[in-house]
Amino acid sequence: MVDERMGDLVVFLDEGASGPVPLPDASINVADLAVTRGDGIFESIGVIDGRFIELDRHLARLEHSANLLDLPRPDTAAFAAAARRGVAAHTSEPELLVKLFFSRGIEGTGTPSGWVEVLTGDDHSAARSTGIRVVTLDRGYRHDIAQTSPWLLQGAKTLSYALNKAALREAARRHADDVIFVSTDDVVLEGPTSNVLVRHDDLFRTPRTDLGILAGTTQAAVFETLASRGFEAVEAALSVADLASADAVWLLSSGRLVAPVRELDGQSLTVDRDFTAGLLTETFGVPAIP
Ligand SMILES: Cc1ncc(COP(=O)(O)O)c(C=O)c1O
Repeated sequence: MVDERMGDLVVFLDEGASGPVPLPDASINVADLAVTRGDGIFESIGVIDGRFIELDRHLARLEHSANLLDLPRPDTAAFAAAARRGVAAHTSEPELLVKLFFSRGIEGTGTPSGWVEVLTGDDHSAARSTGIRVVTLDRGYRHDIAQTSPWLLQGAKTLSYALNKAALREAARRHADDVIFVSTDDVVLEGPTSNVLVRHDDLFRTPRTDLGILAGTTQAAVFETLASRGFEAVEAALSVADLASADAVWLLSSGRLVAPVRELDGQSLTVDRDFTAGLLTETFGVPAIP
């Protein structure tokens, strides 16, 4: 039997039963507002050994983002079906990354466009075991921006990620791997693609979602594991001093999942490899790194 599975691919939502398209052959209209304005939303979902990680939370957040942007309601069942079809068509890999895209569509048509990409996942084993170097960067607004300026769409996962990517390039210039954004009034926010988890003894804290940050699916799943182990896991307002004094800090995100911070603004932080490996296995079924 010929194995017809392919590499990275795209499934378009409006193409009914037609098959997935190889990524290099897939295109969208140049007049799509995703291209011309970044006017749309997305989700990135990890898939481990064929299992979707927190699919329902991602679909719920897609709907929430659409609501914040006044987009039509996305057909989440169609997105889930396209994602499953895409994963079934992709060569089997230990980890895949599935991205859902939903844009306002071609300007003037009023019809949104949606598509799903299925990509071979990166190898995150080094970041998960030995950790990452992180710098704090000023995000340029106060911690209460979501309340004072709701039109800035804080908390929506929009397609406009140019500044998130710019921040990561700034981190690289500072010989770091990632970023923790801080408000102008010294409140810890989030990473460009991650949430922050901070440990002091048996207390685990993550920045509150009313601070204009994205509600993380990875963070929510990790909190369930921590609670089931009897730890206190709460949302809070944290300062940079809370990061520096922590017993451990992690960045949490779909794809990389749980990455301990080994260096913060040039200062070493302790990495608890066993604890991190336990979180990865218990929460997401990630095989232990030998
Ligand atoms: C700005 C931002 N914050 C937080 C996260 C983490 O969210 P999740 O764990 O659902 O991937 C992301 C994910 O891409 C993000 O882009």
